[in-house]
Amino acid sequence: MAAGTRVALVTGASTGIGEATAIRLAREPGTELVLVARREDRLRALAESLPCRATYVAVDLTGADAPARVRAHLEAEHGGALHLLVNNAGAAWRGDFASTGHANVQRHMELNFDAVVRLTEALLPLLRQAAPSAIVNVASTAGRVARARTGAYSASKFALIGWTDALYAEERAHGVHVGMVLPGFIATEGFPATELKEKALTRWLVSKPEVVAEAIYEVGPGGKPERYVPRFYAVAAILRILAPRLIRRILTSGSAGPLTTKTADEI
Ligand SMILES: NC(=O)c1ccc[n+]([C@@H]2O[C@H](COP(=O)([O-])OP(=O)(O)OC[C@H]3O[C@@H](n4cnc5c(N)ncnc54)[C@H](OP(=O)(O)O)[C@@H]3O)[C@@H](O)[C@H]2O)c1
Repeated sequence: MAAGTRVALVTGASTGIGEATAIRLAREPGTELVLVARREDRLRALAESLPCRATYVAVDLTGADAPARVRAHLEAEHGGALHLLVNNAGAAWRGDFASTGHANVQRHMELNFDAVVRLTEALLPLLRQAAPSAIVNVASTAGRVARARTGAYSASKFALIGWTDALYAEERAHGVHVGMVLPGFIATEGFPATELKEKALTRWLVSKPEVVAEAIYEVGPGGKPERYVPRFYAVAAILRILAPRLIRRILTSGSAGPLTTKTADEI
């Protein structure tokens, strides 16, 4: 590997925020990318279109052998080097608790939390070895403020945020920066936000994957602790702490319905 090469691994790179992140990172001189998701055809097409060396691993990250497979790939194809891990793969399946129960909570935790923890566990030794290095966890504003029918998704993102803060405190001394990005509504394949985009009154709430990709760059290589995207979503998180009664009133009012947007599986 040439001196100055920086290897970055992006999960959920086949579409949406992960794809935009791969494209953003590829612009940096000396970058080598590892793209991870289930759809191999998408990963291959993206790898071939990028201006830097890019390899891929087509794997279901909830699978028992996924972390070991990704690590083996890094060792075989990139000399075991890893300077940036972007834990971005994730999904949401809407439904109230009375109807979807523990099964839906478990489904979210397996992908949005456990898979992140398991992959990080497998790759942390490589990140420490390559320090200064970084981890960016893609959480959500839903990891600060929960809406009806998103409890399972929010639980997984609240968990991810708490664990990320602790990991930051532990890994600082080892030269591994740990930060997070908290997107609001971002129009993607999995989270189309069609209801909000259709209306002039709510269109301004929706941002683009490329904006999140820039925030991921600022938090990872840039060393920032966290970024909301768009930035004004931080207000919701602050109000949740300072004015819980107000937030509860807003989120249970009749006009809050469209804020629980449909995700890919409902469309
Ligand atoms: N868009 C938003 O409004 C929004 C808001 C807040 C937070 N986020 C978070 O941002 C992240 C990216 O979301 P997105 O909007 O870009 O969604 P997306 O367009 O649905 O992309 C999700 C990515 O995750 C991958 N993925 C899903 N399940 C996987 C599995 N079992 N194993 C491996 N890869 C898997 C998908 O690829 P394959 O299907 O090819 O596996 C895809 O590349 C997620 O963590 C999401 O929770 C999104």
